[in-house]
Amino acid sequence: MKTYQIVLLPGDGVGPEVTAVARAAMASVAAICGFRLTFSEHAIGGASIDQYGAPLTPQALAACQASDAIFLGAVGGPKWDQAVSRPEAGLLALRKALQVYANLRPVSVHPALAGKSPLRAELVAGVDMLIVRELTGGIYFGARQKGQDYASDECAYNRAEIERVAHIAFQQARLRRGKLTSIDKANVLETSRLWRSVVSEMGAKTYPDIALDHIYVDAAAMHLLRDPASFDVIVTENMFGDILSDEASMLPGSIGLLGSASLGDKRPGVFEPIHGSAPDIAGQDKANPFGAIESAAQLFESGLGEIEAARRLRAAINAMHEAGEWTADLGGSLNCSKAGTRLLQHLERMRVYLKR
Ligand SMILES: NC(=O)c1ccc[n+]([C@@H]2O[C@H](COP(=O)([O-])OP(=O)(O)OC[C@H]3O[C@@H](n4cnc5c(N)ncnc54)[C@H](O)[C@@H]3O)[C@@H](O)[C@H]2O)c1
Repeated sequence: MKTYQIVLLPGDGVGPEVTAVARAAMASVAAICGFRLTFSEHAIGGASIDQYGAPLTPQALAACQASDAIFLGAVGGPKWDQAVSRPEAGLLALRKALQVYANLRPVSVHPALAGKSPLRAELVAGVDMLIVRELTGGIYFGARQKGQDYASDECAYNRAEIERVAHIAFQQARLRRGKLTSIDKANVLETSRLWRSVVSEMGAKTYPDIALDHIYVDAAAMHLLRDPASFDVIVTENMFGDILSDEASMLPGSIGLLGSASLGDKRPGVFEPIHGSAPDIAGQDKANPFGAIESAAQLFESGLGEIEAARRLRAAINAMHEAGEWTADLGGSLNCSKAGTRLLQHLERMRVYLKR
């Protein structure tokens, strides 16, 4: 039987809670689809600082590098805010070491969720976009300086870094509705001017079939609320993508719904919900696990090529939306673990009539 090695990095706060649900869902769907997953679990972030004094140990990184795919919960929390080495440094180091330079964040609004959005239902109807965020460059990885009354963070990009993530975005656009919006701040920043010229050149030379447009990040923040359904694929640099995808996460009503895939040129990819460790609800079994389950679907789809398993997980999530089975962030009465149990029941029920 085909077997895949999956590394779980539950992390901090609600990370372990949503990871437990995702693990059970992955195991269940693998059994239904006829392949096997072996899981190994490692600490990252604050949990790793507490246990080993560092947010990512060489042992954990080696296990990740030897795996087929990595599932991560979330890292961070107030406990480590003053730590010399912060939990988030573990995640950044993992992304850099694995060279997972493209972070794919799909955002869609299931019709049953339209009333949950802070925007009017007619504005979010039909939203179906993919945000492709550059993940291993830009200001999050630039040189830093810190003095008593001065601090600086450098933002740098080179052509190759822009080209590789833009290729992924153009190719995704080809698989979808054929539209790509590149977001930058080319009216002010040199990195953005390089970004825009490289993406334009690629559009003209290699992807003339894709309708490419460019907008400034400040205008993009506005358009995401004014006409979110007009977006198909978005490509943008690291920090802009971080901020805009949190904004976009509110379109379906909760940040707890969205998953992400961080991909490089080869396996393993890293799959994680886009939310953080949610310290305000951690330890209370209140987190919405759907973003983690969607991330598991992406792990099957983009990480392992197990398309049928991804389809089944998404069908089970949709069944729960249709039945109004939600956690508290969406006004529902399920807690995190109960939502996981219901999802397993839907998977089992659909085993009978979802054809392989
Ligand atoms: N990839 C990551 O691991 C990641 C991403 C973002 C933030 N963080 C870290 O997480 C910590 C908290 O950050 P934050 O508060 O800015 O962002 P957050 O995403 O953790 O929480 C923002 C808000 O969304 C809610 N929320 C988040 N996930 C939810 C879920 N699954 N279900 C229901 N509600 C949910 C929280 O309760 C909170 O009100 C910080 O230490 C931050 O650095 C980590």
